[in-house]
Amino acid sequence: MVVAANAASLAVRMSLNRAVIFLGPPGAGKGTQAKRVAERYHVPHLSTGDMLREAVSRGTELGKLAKPIMERGELVPDDLILRMVEERLSRKDSQGGVIFDGFPRTIPQAEQLGQILARHGFGAPLVVEFLVDPDKLLHRLSGRWMCTVGGEIYNIYEQPPKVPGICDKDGGKLVQRTDDRPEVVRERLVAYERQTKPLVEYYRKNGKVEALDGSTGVEEVNRALMEIVKRAEGRDGHL
Ligand code: AP5
Repeated sequence: MVVAANAASLAVRMSLNRAVIFLGPPGAGKGTQAKRVAERYHVPHLSTGDMLREAVSRGTELGKLAKPIMERGELVPDDLILRMVEERLSRKDSQGGVIFDGFPRTIPQAEQLGQILARHGFGAPLVVEFLVDPDKLLHRLSGRWMCTVGGEIYNIYEQPPKVPGICDKDGGKLVQRTDDRPEVVRERLVAYERQTKPLVEYYRKNGKVEALDGSTGVEEVNRALMEIVKRAEGRDGHL
């Protein structure tokens, strides 16, 4: 009985029931933290960057369109992104909430997302703004390696794999992203400042924004982030 009660209270504590948006510049740690939070709450981690990279590697029509744009560090057109997101959200697994990583990135994407969330029965999203010094971003991105199988993220300076070039989790090959070259990173940072940063103000009026110091180590950032997410569990999440 006690065990059942504890299990029930744990289930209640771990239900997210809302959309959470991770907003922040390239290299801020959104993907690293989104994987952890999504696993903890058993909700999907929806990264438009990962979805686009998959489309590129599969050579789909979307991938062919997106590839040169991503290689220049620019944003992929809103209509393509929104179609991809709507399709993904139509799967049943996002009913208990969802973590958006790198989406939305423009005001039109945010406006459309508001309508999509309403159609799926969610209220205003919680937005976590990752704050990291630009010098740190460049350093992190220069050391990032990603698994070609499961997408696990490593950093040769901070979180190296046990065997260089091989994923600890599934043995997949690790590669560097082509858009992590310094000249492309600079373009991505410009795109962030111009097109995505205005979303902070937008969500101050149309949701809730919590600032997160993303400059400390992965574990410390995770602790601070979990506090923010726990405070917001379910509150205004579902209509
Ligand atoms: P996307 O894949 O979304 O890239 P991004 O937003 O630029 O972010 P990153 O993935 O580079 O960084 P992150 O914050 O996830 O950092 P990570 O956790 O990996 O988008 C790529 C492209 O796709 C865009 O440029 C655009 O062309 C297109 N696109 C995607 N979405 C779009 C949209 N909605 N609309 C239009 N176009 C879109 O960490 C980085 C490194 O730092 C890793 O090595 C990690 O191990 C390390 N690290 C993480 N946290 C810490 C820490 N606390 N301390 C030390 N090291 C850390």
